[in-house]
Amino acid sequence: MNPGQRQRAQHDDPAASTACRPDCWEDDFSINTLDEAEFVVRPPINSWDESHFRNRRNIISDELLAGQSFRDFVERDPWPIPGDQDREGYCAGFDTSYWMAGLADYLKVMRAATGLGIEVNSLLDFGCASGRVTRHFCTQSGIPEIWGSDINRRHIRWLCQYMPPQLKPVFNSSMPSLPLPDHSMDVTCAFSVFTHIDTFETSWLAELRRVLRPGGLCYLTVHNEDTWVAMRELDETNRLIKSMLQGGQFAMDELWQPLPAERLVYRFRQTGPYRSQVFHSNAYLQRVWGRFFDIQQILPRHHQRQSVVLMTRPATSQSQLRSAA
Ligand SMILES: C[S@@+](CC[C@H](N)C(=O)[O-])C[C@H]1O[C@@H](n2cnc3c(N)ncnc32)[C@H](O)[C@@H]1O
Repeated sequence: MNPGQRQRAQHDDPAASTACRPDCWEDDFSINTLDEAEFVVRPPINSWDESHFRNRRNIISDELLAGQSFRDFVERDPWPIPGDQDREGYCAGFDTSYWMAGLADYLKVMRAATGLGIEVNSLLDFGCASGRVTRHFCTQSGIPEIWGSDINRRHIRWLCQYMPPQLKPVFNSSMPSLPLPDHSMDVTCAFSVFTHIDTFETSWLAELRRVLRPGGLCYLTVHNEDTWVAMRELDETNRLIKSMLQGGQFAMDELWQPLPAERLVYRFRQTGPYRSQVFHSNAYLQRVWGRFFDIQQILPRHHQRQSVVLMTRPATSQSQLRSAA
């Protein structure tokens, strides 16, 4: 029997195929599939009065609001807020801060798109979790085509149940592949996602590039050397520092040296589906990410301690466009 025949024989034998596969083979790819615990559902933000937004100016500057009424943003969002355990560490215990932090990121993406003359009719928020930023694209913008993806199936479950109907939530596995056509998005963004992708980094860049239309905006956040310097104000109780210490390859005093390598990966353990903290120097971003996109700007600490890489997809030659059609 040659190897091809042996494979066929096993496949045809129900006992053999059960023995070599988990009961639910999808679990190999979709971590958290078995997590069916009830969600904690917090009240919508439009049910909170003014007194709960007192720290608004620390999170959203008047300049970012650009003359728009803050209360109008609040009134436009009647959708529930996820409990702390489904917020990926963002603003535990502070629902209004969680919501405002997402609003600030939404406003920054829209401002970047406008600055580059990009009209936004379609958008993908890659690694969007339970929709901290995505919800604002849905409730505030009128963008007709909005997609959110994540590797954590529990987040997709939340989005399907509690986020506005114009959002299309899709699960993606760690293998870079999105169920979206070539050139279909005006904007792709990812907040605090490439800070956790190690092996498939360039493949994911290629995938985001594929779905973006020529001239479209790719808005990604990173840990870069500005993050490294900003981390000097933190101590061992901080979530990021704790995870970096866990692997035993990092010591606090290293922060007072320059970023030790062009690209650094610190591994950690957690129950969730990602297990690394990744740092990129600006030189690396230019040399490697610049192969996939035109880097317009790297904005230091534009997403809390993370920096934002603003990139556009280079214009595609007519022949490439024809073969994609
Ligand atoms: C720190 S959280 C940020 C969540 C969200 N972008 C936000 O700003 O609130 C990182 C998110 O990226 C997701 N993630 C990590 N690796 C991913 C991958 N390869 N593909 C899609 N999502 C991924 C995680 O499941 C998680 O929801």
